[in-house]
Amino acid sequence: PSAPILISFPDPDALVDSLASFIVKAQKDSVDKKGRFTIALSGGSLPKMLRGLINNPAVKWNKWQVYYVDERVVPLDHPDSNHRACTEHLFSKVPIPSENIHPLDPSLLNDLEDLSDSYEKELIREFAQKDSARFPVFDLILLGMGPDGHTASLFPGHELLSEEDRWVAYVDDSPKPPPKRITFTYPVINHAARVAFVAAGKEKADTLKSILDDPEAGLPSARVRPVFPGQLYWFVDDAAAEKVVYP
Ligand code: 6PG
Repeated sequence: PSAPILISFPDPDALVDSLASFIVKAQKDSVDKKGRFTIALSGGSLPKMLRGLINNPAVKWNKWQVYYVDERVVPLDHPDSNHRACTEHLFSKVPIPSENIHPLDPSLLNDLEDLSDSYEKELIREFAQKDSARFPVFDLILLGMGPDGHTASLFPGHELLSEEDRWVAYVDDSPKPPPKRITFTYPVINHAARVAFVAAGKEKADTLKSILDDPEAGLPSARVRPVFPGQLYWFVDDAAAEKVVYP
């Protein structure tokens, strides 16, 4: 894979603006090529960081198809839901058609296996007929990174780190509550055309250093290595980047 591109900003507003421009550029390339834009979003602070897309005339919301990288197994309007966070911070403020947003099937919350299978089928509906490739190729996947180095719901030492087959899997023992989640697996993340991490704050500094300067240490976020021609980006603030020597 090509080396990650690290972009660091002195303040959050600069990061927000640059992230929005980056997303718009990815959207334009994708829509020019095939008339749609497939993007997967994460939770945490990411939904708030997407505010640069609000009132942005370059965003073609009707071309977006939005999925979730991972999701907590809770009702869609629960405070822990990533879908709820994205709706509050972004979708309720922009003209995106509701059928372009792909949340969990709320009727399956009691069965993790069925729930993750149904989300995998949702991806197959979007990608399988179009790509002969074995895995979906998202135009853009946006990730966060926890202070423990986790990304999506892929946690340090978890057996899902070596999943090579499934597109979507479930976790019922997340070390960070809530314990039940579904998550994209590495093969899906690593087949995207572009993957971008967004990480801010000094509590991320040691972890970011490990990931970029010592990737072989194998933290979950360091295992995000898009296959060629996919490209990995890190949008960070100076506080998170403080200890990094890379490149
Ligand atoms: C969870 C969190 C988590 C979060 C990261 C980064 O798994 O429960 O939502 O995945 O996205 O810890 O969080 P921040 O972006 O808020 O720092």
